[in-house]
Amino acid sequence: MNTSPTQCHKIAMLDSLDEEFRILADHIKQKASPQHTIEILEAGCGNSWELDLAGVSYALTGVDIDEDGMNLRKSEHQDLDEAIVGDLRTAVLEENHYDVIYNSHVLEHVEGAPLALDNFHRWLKPGGILILRLPDRDSVYGFCTRLTPFWFHVFYKRYLEGNENAGRPGFGPFPTVYDKIVSREGIRRWCAARRLIIRAEYGSNDFLNALGALALPARVLLGVVHVLSLGRLAAKHSNLTYVIEKPVVPSQAEIEEEKMAWQPAAVAPTAGNDGA
Ligand SMILES: C[S@@+](CC[C@H](N)C(=O)[O-])C[C@H]1O[C@@H](n2cnc3c(N)ncnc32)[C@H](O)[C@@H]1O
Repeated sequence: MNTSPTQCHKIAMLDSLDEEFRILADHIKQKASPQHTIEILEAGCGNSWELDLAGVSYALTGVDIDEDGMNLRKSEHQDLDEAIVGDLRTAVLEENHYDVIYNSHVLEHVEGAPLALDNFHRWLKPGGILILRLPDRDSVYGFCTRLTPFWFHVFYKRYLEGNENAGRPGFGPFPTVYDKIVSREGIRRWCAARRLIIRAEYGSNDFLNALGALALPARVLLGVVHVLSLGRLAAKHSNLTYVIEKPVVPSQAEIEEEKMAWQPAAVAPTAGNDGA
């Protein structure tokens, strides 16, 4: 029987956002060395940055399509070395340049998300990592988000999660599109087609933590929809987090050198054994 990439194995679950940010910061810190400033691109940077990279030298470039969000980011945090207002699908940035591309909760808002992903692939240095955080469209949460109108998303964020800025200029929520690639299967297939290495894959359900007393009924609802979907919609996780590496491709000279190293050494003819 064929199994899809989403069905093939269990996903490691993260317990909290703090745990997730600590793990992701550790992945980035592995790129550090005393002589090297880590080049980080925050793709779809929004109005704030969550990771604590104290102790490492890095340069942070932010790109976002929303000028209001970018202005808030610049005035309130002043943490970007370069701020670019632009569209991740069409922006022109240096190829093979970034050690880390961090893309958090952006792809679900992008029509033609594969165009943005292919740009990340282009902009990433060989050996660099792409960190993706996205909701899974094939989870109960993703399914419900796709079914409900945008005004409900604003209502949910403002009144159920208690975020009073929800819907104001520069603040989320942002309209969702949920391209097919915004799923476990979609990301795995994209990585396989480009020979990218998935170094880590996690699931989380942190929207439940923001619901307080409503978390329990929400959990029951997740379970019910999961069963009604005959197991097709995931209930255990709503969000996915990936650490994806662009492999270093050896140069032709390195390939030749490697071949030579494996060739058996020529046997020198010895006296009396010259075949005569
Ligand atoms: C939900 S916010 C996430 C912000 C931030 N990355 C975070 O995790 O808090 C989504 C962000 O993606 C940006 N965005 C959406 N489509 C984009 C595109 N095509 N190019 C660049 N940024 C985009 C929005 O303007 C918004 O700032």
